[in-house]
Amino acid sequence: METKKVKLVEIGPRDGFQNVKEFIPTAHKIEIIDGLVAAGYQNIQCTSFVSPAAIPQMRDASDVVCNVTQRHPTVAFSALVPNYQGAQHAQAAGIKEITPVISLSASHNASNVRRTHEQSLEEIARIRHDFPDLKITQDIATVFGCPFEGRMEIAPLLDLMGKIYQLGIRAFTLCDTIGVAYPKQVKEVLSAARAAFSDCEINLHIHDTRNMGMINSYTGVLCGADSIQTAIGGLGGCPFAPGATGNTSSEDFLYMLQQEGYQTGIDQKKLLALARNVHETIPTGNFSGHHIHITTQQCGYTDL
Ligand code: COA
Ligand code: ZN
Repeated sequence: METKKVKLVEIGPRDGFQNVKEFIPTAHKIEIIDGLVAAGYQNIQCTSFVSPAAIPQMRDASDVVCNVTQRHPTVAFSALVPNYQGAQHAQAAGIKEITPVISLSASHNASNVRRTHEQSLEEIARIRHDFPDLKITQDIATVFGCPFEGRMEIAPLLDLMGKIYQLGIRAFTLCDTIGVAYPKQVKEVLSAARAAFSDCEINLHIHDTRNMGMINSYTGVLCGADSIQTAIGGLGGCPFAPGATGNTSSEDFLYMLQQEGYQTGIDQKKLLALARNVHETIPTGNFSGHHIHITTQQCGYTDL
């Protein structure tokens, strides 16, 4: 039988933690990242190099990166960067992959990174040029809908991706920042992006605002997304996008993939234990991981 594989990228330590007001001690952040590595994750977005005035939670980004990259040299860690300064700090801390962010909608781009599209593209060009040794995966936010402008169209997305492609970038993550996508839209957007940029990596990042996280992320698998980003405990949310809630929860999505016969390299028991730890120790009510409290014994399954 053909082996079905899915690449999962864990983003809880970035998208999840950034939305938690109370500072999570650096040692605890590292403990959770260690737990993700122990569960089998090979790809983790571990922090963001942002202005500490904009997101105080991420002020320890350099410490987190120095620690985890040195102790887990075989794991691919990435960090989100909103601007050139972020890329400089990321490289200095020793990360090998960065994720600049631009929003498809001009108004969310202004709210999130305080730049016009032209200014963002000019800065991404400088980052690509000045950091040739870093892998760049470009996040495109509000691909499916914007909190200020509503539904987004495919043509402007392809146009924006084309401009970024011309800068030499060959990896994209399409983000449903506020969780308004639906399966038909995910399919149409991914198919169009695939067809237009067949030599690029195209990843999917989904939020679970309307309980559509699982089906949208799974649609991404069925449509051949190169990786699916999820967050432990269903953490997640953008402080600059009103109404955004958590990402598709890693442990729920893993459960679904395993039952559907996909190989992910992740250990379900370890991930559930870690999700419980996150649920008990991270001070937020913003969880969409509805089932993390169900233990093997409680739910009666023996194969989990
Ligand atoms: N890391 C650390 N400090 C940074 C920084 C970075 N990446 N970018 C800017 N700063 C600091 C500057 O040094 C400056 O500090 P000072 O006031 O002590 O001199 C201050 O922030 C303002 O800098 P400026 O260049 O005017 O910032 P800006 O207005 O051009 O950009 C952003 C602001 C975008 C960098 C900031 O709003 C930000 O980090 N936003 C986070 C966006 C985000 O992560 N959203 C969620 C994920 S999608
Ligand atoms: Zn997000």
